Amino acid sequence: MNEIDIRKGLVGVHADVTAVSKVMEESNSLTYRGYAVQDLAEHCSFEEVAYLLWHGELPDRRQLAAFQKDERAERRISPRLKRVIAEFPRRAHPMDAIRTAVSFMGMEDPEVADVSEAATRRKALRLLAKIPTAIAAFHRIRQGKRTTSPREDLGFAENFFHMVFGRVPAPEVVKAFDVSLILYAEHGFNASTFTARTVASSQADIHAAITAAIGSLKGPLHGGANEAVMHMLTEIGSPERAKQWLEGKFDHRALVMGFGHRVYKHGDSRVPTMTRYAEKMAEVIGDDRWLAIERVLAEEMLTRKNIHPNLDFPAGPTYYMMGFEIPMFTPIFVASRITGWAAHVFEQIADNRLIRPLSVYTGPEQRAVVPIKRR
Ligand code: COA
Repeated sequence: MNEIDIRKGLVGVHADVTAVSKVMEESNSLTYRGYAVQDLAEHCSFEEVAYLLWHGELPDRRQLAAFQKDERAERRISPRLKRVIAEFPRRAHPMDAIRTAVSFMGMEDPEVADVSEAATRRKALRLLAKIPTAIAAFHRIRQGKRTTSPREDLGFAENFFHMVFGRVPAPEVVKAFDVSLILYAEHGFNASTFTARTVASSQADIHAAITAAIGSLKGPLHGGANEAVMHMLTEIGSPERAKQWLEGKFDHRALVMGFGHRVYKHGDSRVPTMTRYAEKMAEVIGDDRWLAIERVLAEEMLTRKNIHPNLDFPAGPTYYMMGFEIPMFTPIFVASRITGWAAHVFEQIADNRLIRPLSVYTGPEQRAVVPIKRR
């Protein structure tokens, strides 16, 4: 058994090739189809980035217009799905709600059984368009409000605000949200993306792959960290308490959410961009409290543990300052990451081999079955 190399957590294992994105540990940088993510965040919309991830190139004006027209036309969810969502337990976590809603969308999709790449691309577009509508519907139903219909005259980010809050905020708020969607869109073979590829590798449909990916993203070691960060900040409450609170965590060798990364060990390239937009949000609402706490935590974590923050660290308070309730944070991540997941599903099915690793057995040696009468 000793000579078998087991990589717990698949640390350092290259499971396949990909042309979707490159995560560079040595320079702490990330590119989507060759473009630096911070440049995409500054110069492009989320829709352009979605197109890039799915088609390999940024769209020209005409291609973008066609993509937006198709996405906007698919935003409505069926009356039956709305009724199903209305039956979800009000106390359910919105991640469980969107996971179940996506699974249900699969049952309704006319092409569910067609797992060809062309049909899978059409289904992915429907998922991209409908996921925000389902997230917003559950949010509003939970709050005892009427659901809002999507608007075809609004961009992806604007329409999400419209559906959740019934209004579209100032352009700088919409831009900060759009930037967060771009930064969350794709990140190599992370746990949820690998889950999606694994499901797709058995020739199951994309709705099955995305449902499973959402399940994986929920965990606090993965996407759920953006919610955990905000719970941590509200628990700390003020910058004066931050150092002492952190000391308690160090005493118990506890995890501090929003810090650390499996690949980046010297900083996450997405953090400076997201932090800049978090600062803009603090200016908009005139309250720097959450970022002041974060500055203390980041400095202490670096000097004491040499651990850097990840994207969830600035993204959590950014969403909070926009007015989103904490359980909406990871579903927003879903609304973005569907682009990366789908790009990987297309890649997987275009050159598929069933994903099926081995394990080293450590249970009892083979033994004889003793029938129950004699036991
Ligand atoms: N808080 C405190 N200590 C941390 C830490 C954190 N957030 N992240 C890593 N460490 C410590 C580990 O305890 C370990 O210490 P040890 O060597 O004394 O045991 C060391 O740093 C190395 O970490 P390791 O667990 O090997 O890293 P990993 O690659 O397995 O885990 C994460 C990566 C993301 C799962 C981990 O950093 C984590 O749980 N972070 C918090 C959750 C989070 O923010 N997730 C979002 C990721 S984008």
